[in-house]
Amino acid sequence: MNIMVVGTGYVGLTSGSSFAELGHNVVCVDIDERKINQLRQGIMPFYEPGLQDIVVRNVKERRLFFTTSLSEAIKSASVIFIAVGTPSLPNGSVDLSYVEQVAIQIGKNLIDYKIIVNKSTVPVGTADLVERIIKENMTDKKVSFDMASVPEFLREGSAVKDIFNGDRIVIGANNLEVADILMKLHEKLNIPIQITDIRSAELIKYAANSFLAMKISFINEIANIADGVGADVIEVAKGIGSDKRIGNQFLNAGIGFGGACFPKDVKGLIEIAQKSGRTLPLLEEVIRINDNQYRSVINKLLSVYPDLTGKVITILGLAFKPNTDDMRDAVSISLVRSLFEVDPSLKINVYDPIALEAAKQVIKGNVEYCNSIEEAISNSDAILIVTEWDEIVEFDYKKNINLLNNPVIIDGRNCLDLSGGRIDGFIYRSIGRKPI
Ligand code: UGA
Repeated sequence: MNIMVVGTGYVGLTSGSSFAELGHNVVCVDIDERKINQLRQGIMPFYEPGLQDIVVRNVKERRLFFTTSLSEAIKSASVIFIAVGTPSLPNGSVDLSYVEQVAIQIGKNLIDYKIIVNKSTVPVGTADLVERIIKENMTDKKVSFDMASVPEFLREGSAVKDIFNGDRIVIGANNLEVADILMKLHEKLNIPIQITDIRSAELIKYAANSFLAMKISFINEIANIADGVGADVIEVAKGIGSDKRIGNQFLNAGIGFGGACFPKDVKGLIEIAQKSGRTLPLLEEVIRINDNQYRSVINKLLSVYPDLTGKVITILGLAFKPNTDDMRDAVSISLVRSLFEVDPSLKINVYDPIALEAAKQVIKGNVEYCNSIEEAISNSDAILIVTEWDEIVEFDYKKNINLLNNPVIIDGRNCLDLSGGRIDGFIYRSIGRKPI
């Protein structure tokens, strides 16, 4: 099948190259000329394990092409995926301007029948909006097209793996012919497919992300209670998660969720509710809990050092999660800002295996960017673990204890293995577990 994917961000590039890997002919379109040129040379616009391999292989085997020309790419495509960004506006609502621009371009260049699929996370009703914009911009009003919605459920850092091993594919279509074509497009993936209407598919995406975010805020609240009553949140998560109705995933308590999806999509769903005349206090609370969660790390630091004057603090991990250089809504940003608010005299050393460059654009203040864990912890008074990269989890803290000025670890991800005396000699605090 011939496919055009508009947008070469996480969703567009990963799904486009995966469709090529399945044997389809794919043209990825982006307005960013530099990005397109780099992709043609096999240079990825972001760090994502395994992605470069499939891009390079499929470009070489001439199943995957990159262009800035939507008007050219559209000619041979029978299915068009819209996978451009839908960021949050300052008031929390979803910015659909990129989607609208693409719809205008598709309308202007539509000369024969296509299936047009929204893959970006878009508010319920956006397929109708896109349909209307395309119709308004079509030069030949007799050409027909169908809209569909196939939301993406991949996670950054494991995007390629997720596409080939997803739990389900949701296809929202308004007639069976369209659903059938989209099923054929995905059939080699061998993943259960749910066919539904377009609006339900659009809502499934927001509901799924909001539910997962809710699980995280829930377990973070339980962690805060565990701190108060002397229980262990890891034991509690295990105990509740082994009930299949609850499930054991996304119950890792920590410093809170970040990234381009959960904060934006939970707020997006709240706005969808408001627009339909309802409220979503449950999800408002999910956001409020998350916005405050990083403070528990600062409070634990203050419980060790009531006075932080002149202290050197090391932050290990800056990206919003491991295996990505994505700093969008990363908790490290609020943490650094808040630490300087608590005490402007602090010296803060930071280290991340991949995200240092991206972090320099968004983390403000007198921060020392370090090139290794050893450099970052030298002469430090406390280590704050923010992102559980393997390198940070597996680092031999005990062996390097003498590099530190004071042996203190605040583990914001509950990620260190405490067995076998691995952190002997350290004052250790984590989220919802007894202090050591
Ligand atoms: C999320 C969803 O998991 C994907 O299914 C979805 O497709 C994607 O959003 C999207 O809408 O594009 P992603 O944001 O890449 O994926 O990353 P997650 O692995 O879900 O992690 C999100 C945040 O939650 C991270 O900051 C992570 O550290 C945090 N988290 C996750 C926890 O604090 N505890 C957990 O138990 C799990």
